[in-house]
Amino acid sequence: MPIDPARRHFVTLLAGSPLLAALGLDRRALERLIAGAARPHEAPLTIAQQAIEAAGASGARMQPTLIKAASEALDVFDFEPVAQQTLPPAHWGYLATGTDDDATIRANRAGYERWALRPRRLIDVGAVDASVSFLGTRYPTPIVINPVGSQKAFHAQGEVAVARAAKARNHLMVLSTVATTSIEEAIAERGGPVWFQLYHQTDWSITKQMIARAERAGAPAIVFTVDLLGGSNRLTMTREARRDTRECTRCHLGGAPLPGVSGRVDDRDNRRKPNLVGYDTTRRQLDTGTPTWAYVDRIRQATKAKVWLKGIVTEEDAALAVKHGVDGVFVSNHGGRAENSGRATVTSLPEVVRGAAGKLDIICDGGVRRGVDAFKALALGAKGVGIGRPYIWGLASFGQEGVETVLALLRKELEVTMKQCGATSLAQIGRRHITTA
Ligand SMILES: Cc1cc2nc3c(=O)[nH]c(=O)nc-3n(C[C@H](O)[C@H](O)[C@H](O)COP(=O)(O)O)c2cc1C
Repeated sequence: MPIDPARRHFVTLLAGSPLLAALGLDRRALERLIAGAARPHEAPLTIAQQAIEAAGASGARMQPTLIKAASEALDVFDFEPVAQQTLPPAHWGYLATGTDDDATIRANRAGYERWALRPRRLIDVGAVDASVSFLGTRYPTPIVINPVGSQKAFHAQGEVAVARAAKARNHLMVLSTVATTSIEEAIAERGGPVWFQLYHQTDWSITKQMIARAERAGAPAIVFTVDLLGGSNRLTMTREARRDTRECTRCHLGGAPLPGVSGRVDDRDNRRKPNLVGYDTTRRQLDTGTPTWAYVDRIRQATKAKVWLKGIVTEEDAALAVKHGVDGVFVSNHGGRAENSGRATVTSLPEVVRGAAGKLDIICDGGVRRGVDAFKALALGAKGVGIGRPYIWGLASFGQEGVETVLALLRKELEVTMKQCGATSLAQIGRRHITTA
């Protein structure tokens, strides 16, 4: 049985409480529950679940009320159970899913626990500046709004609410190919540059038109996602979709969410995917096979926009990205939704930094839930950190205000961490500020 929202929230609170030890629970096991992956057939979770059961009636009495307003949130986790309660099961499953047993979602979080801070004292931290420049635009914080598809599945305003939040808080936003809002509208609502994340199409002539359209709309960067080219095995999503008995003909062919996710966008059902419609299909150039580095060259030749790759996790591929003239990379495993590597992105980050040899900008995403996580990634060489699920929890819970609050919480936490570590600018954050835990 999936964990109900109230219990999930109870677990969140428990993780920070002395009760944790009293219950004989391991924090990581609790994190696994919070990651939304709890399944009765996973032994470690069963133990944790049993311990929660053992808390019994007193535990039930302690279950907190879910937050009723964004302003009540103390951290981004406060939004997760509200989002789960608000969303229909299939949409929740799409958001929460990883691949196989969701181990890589948990790994992404656990990766941050392997690093500890080395705070420095007696440095004047009266003024702290966490600003960063991406492609000539200065942002007050390195926290990036990562591409997440189909956001109108989470809130009626979807990406429009997110773009407005990005504008209000001045964050870099990346729009997904499979967004439910067009790149033109997203840029208009953002009132500034939005980067365009690209899922290639089997027909190169369409991919080329998509790139040209994004560039025309004002996107300064094309972010080519390369971590789903072999497909992914999303079981949590399928399980949750099976619990959803609604007829969904307005948005899904046949009335049910399409099963599974492949490396390619399913263009049979793009009624709510404005970035995939309106292209001239008369000059078809069908590709066989899946993209290789030659395809990256092709993209670069097709645009004057900067080209980033999303999904790089090894030194070798970072070095190849340099060789192929790429401008930057997202160290990403798609939030644990691609291969079930079991390796945290923050663990991959140092080798990508090595392979990049100072020639690529790097954004690290996956499991960033607190400002202190962001600080650790920056200390390991990232220029920015991307977030996915946290801002969608905020969106699903309270629309634009929820997204804004998530962004504000993370920014505040990062700035406090910077002050505590004696770093007053991002340039001052270095490897010396962290050590293995
Ligand atoms: C529901 C969902 C949809 C996503 N859609 C896309 C997408 O369309 N394109 C893409 O490149 N990444 C997509 N991602 C991956 C995110 O950009 C990001 O890499 C990931 O969510 C970061 O991990 P986090 O959720 O732990 O913060 C998606 C992630 C989620 C959770």
